[in-house]
Amino acid sequence: MILLTGATGKTGGAVATQLAEKGVACRALVRDAGKAAPLAELGIELVIGDFADEAALGQALSDVDSAVLILPNSEQQATLEKRFIDAASKAGVGHVVKLSSMEATADTGSPIPAMHYQVECHLKESGLDWTMVRPNFFMQNLLSSAGTIKEQGRFFLPMGDGKTGMSDIRDIAAVIAEVLTATGHRNKSYEVTGPELLSFHDVAGRFSEVLGTTVSYVDMPADAYREMLAKFLASEWHLNAVCDLFAGIAAGGLEYKTDTVSQVLGREPISLSEFVQDHLAVFKNC
Ligand SMILES: NC(=O)c1ccc[n+]([C@@H]2O[C@H](COP(=O)([O-])OP(=O)(O)OC[C@H]3O[C@@H](n4cnc5c(N)ncnc54)[C@H](OP(=O)(O)O)[C@@H]3O)[C@@H](O)[C@H]2O)c1
Repeated sequence: MILLTGATGKTGGAVATQLAEKGVACRALVRDAGKAAPLAELGIELVIGDFADEAALGQALSDVDSAVLILPNSEQQATLEKRFIDAASKAGVGHVVKLSSMEATADTGSPIPAMHYQVECHLKESGLDWTMVRPNFFMQNLLSSAGTIKEQGRFFLPMGDGKTGMSDIRDIAAVIAEVLTATGHRNKSYEVTGPELLSFHDVAGRFSEVLGTTVSYVDMPADAYREMLAKFLASEWHLNAVCDLFAGIAAGGLEYKTDTVSQVLGREPISLSEFVQDHLAVFKNC
């Protein structure tokens, strides 16, 4: 049995779909049965509960061979993830696959990567088998710019001329699904990127080509971006952490790519042009 967490979210949802397509028996720890109804339709067993609910965690982790650890960024993330690892160890789970970040290094001063690094260390010290899946910037982050791309032919981010090897969540999920169902992936770290290193001006160029209309990237000053983001993020910690992360990207912190997708999956990663093409209805005025 495989236990999924974060399965009503973006990456966990894609993992759930891909495992269900492979016919693998899965359980998911979810907070909201209504939101998780599509998972139940895929044949995934549901345990309703929060990471902070010890009884639900124990129920979710019983008789589990491998578990996937995915939580969104928050000030509580490290505490909740470490608690999950301790509960998995206590329940006799064999293997935990953690969704981490390529920026999670010992010397990072940025809160989100530092939190992932701390949890990676905790998992490595737990005695459990582990696999770290460490992605680059998600292409799906660009979906939050769909409104201005559609209405104004522009998107606004504070990344300067920084480049990323941005990755499609479907590839990240496919790597996780492979790690869970094939042998030889335990106690390894996989840095997942897309096929190209792209500045956000390059990203605008790819959008223009696929949409057949000019799309421009507007490099927002960090202070103005922070002011805009503050309207959407209630937590000061989260706001500072995201601004710090994006400053790191602007400074060139994500400017590398890997061949993980082709090594693990035996195929090329999804390109940004394919991503845009697959989301035409979201980005294009039809
Ligand atoms: N975005 C990027 O570019 C990027 C790059 C590298 C790494 N990452 C990492 O990716 C992770 C986020 O993945 P994602 O974007 O796929 O997540 P997401 O779409 O935000 O989904 C989060 C999931 O976690 C569940 N959840 C939240 N709090 C919970 C709790 N207390 N107990 C149980 N479940 C809980 C949510 O359930 P509900 O549906 O009930 O809310 C949802 O299923 C982060 O750790 C981030 O650092 C992101």
